[in-house]
Amino acid sequence: MAAVKIADSVYAVGVLNPGLRVFDIVMKTEFGTTYNAYLVVGSDKTALIETCHRTYFEHFVENIESICPIEKIDYVILNHNEPDHSGALAALLEHNPKMTVVASQAGSLYLKNITNRSDIQFKVVKDGETLSLGNKTLRFINAPFLHWPDSMFTWLEEDRVLFSCDFLGSHYCEPYMFDYNITYPSKYEEAFKGYYDAIFGPFGSYVLKGLEKIKDLDIDFVCPSHGPIITRGCRLDYVRECYERWSQPIVHETKVIPIFYTSAYGNTRLIAQAIEKGIRSVLPDADTETYDIIDYDMGSLGRMLNQSDAFALGSPTINRDAVPPAWMLLSHVDAIGCAKKPCLVFGSYGWSGEAVPNLTARLNGLKMSVFGEGMKVCFVPSEEDLEKATQLGADFAASLK
Ligand SMILES: Cc1cc2nc3c(=O)[nH]c(=O)nc-3n(C[C@H](O)[C@H](O)[C@H](O)COP(=O)(O)O)c2cc1C
Ligand SMILES: [Fe+2]
Ligand SMILES: [Fe+2]
Repeated sequence: MAAVKIADSVYAVGVLNPGLRVFDIVMKTEFGTTYNAYLVVGSDKTALIETCHRTYFEHFVENIESICPIEKIDYVILNHNEPDHSGALAALLEHNPKMTVVASQAGSLYLKNITNRSDIQFKVVKDGETLSLGNKTLRFINAPFLHWPDSMFTWLEEDRVLFSCDFLGSHYCEPYMFDYNITYPSKYEEAFKGYYDAIFGPFGSYVLKGLEKIKDLDIDFVCPSHGPIITRGCRLDYVRECYERWSQPIVHETKVIPIFYTSAYGNTRLIAQAIEKGIRSVLPDADTETYDIIDYDMGSLGRMLNQSDAFALGSPTINRDAVPPAWMLLSHVDAIGCAKKPCLVFGSYGWSGEAVPNLTARLNGLKMSVFGEGMKVCFVPSEEDLEKATQLGADFAASLK
């Protein structure tokens, strides 16, 4: 993609990556992504906002230089320093070591270890601080945990452009940069939601604070660091309304207590069913079901766990450990939202029985509230074991009242 003009002396100079199918190891990117960066040419000074993934450095330089030579850039503003945005900074500094790097306090600390350069000239900016480029003014808005501690937005006052970095972005790649040119709107909306879920889902309260901070800005363009630019006449209201709605705290009328398990020979399943019976005996209206982890999409189960009031997790012991599906499910835990969440661990074993203590240790590490010792049953649960499991489910439910 060549440079694209957004407003007077404001350009998109980022690069497209239509072929990307997995981002950050864990995110599927069916529609590719873009690494957006922007150039603001003021009457006195020129600022580049974001760099890009280091793999695309040469193309990125071509885009910048179609507008102005790298040597003419005075400031590089990094709203957030994950290497998809800061990755090309070190190479850029080779071309122009005189550039001042503008970042939040946290961002400046991260950048030292991302670039491994000790000679960077930093300008650390605070919430509300401004930077004049002559006829254009940039204002910095702290946006912590959207989605890293370093995150901030940059507001270009005269042209009413908000550079929001990952906020309101999407892993969605089409050759035209504006939301009114999107060829497959339903695909964009799917990507926009998937991106929110993966990146901002765990930070709902921070999203609401971020929206509040920008609510009085008279925005014409939101320029995110991935996906299309959002414009006032097209999707601006839509994207803000979506983030607001998706970030509301979830209030359940009755308790939601899913029971996740998996089982090679049905033994752990029997314990799961007995626990379910026990929970229902104390909380008859609770939404409690058993889910064999391998029968469901892991992302949906992860969401269910994250949105639950409490949950139980069962695994047999195989090769001295819990089985991979149980670990995979825990890899989807929103560690912030699930802190102190009550949970119960169980499983059948043959001789060594590590599954229950290993899962317990992990859940404690995630700062959840694990109920007692959980329950281990050697091989096939007896009637007495099942009665105990039912009682355990009842005790667990009673502790949630
Ligand atoms: C391949 C394999 C490896 C196993 N490794 C262990 C083990 O390391 N320690 C242990 O206590 N039990 C081990 N077991 C025994 C199972 O935990 C036991 O059969 C249990 O009842 C299975 O529960 P399930 O029917 O819920 O899968 C192993 C079983 C299999 C099939
Ligand atoms: Fe990021
Ligand atoms: Fe990003």
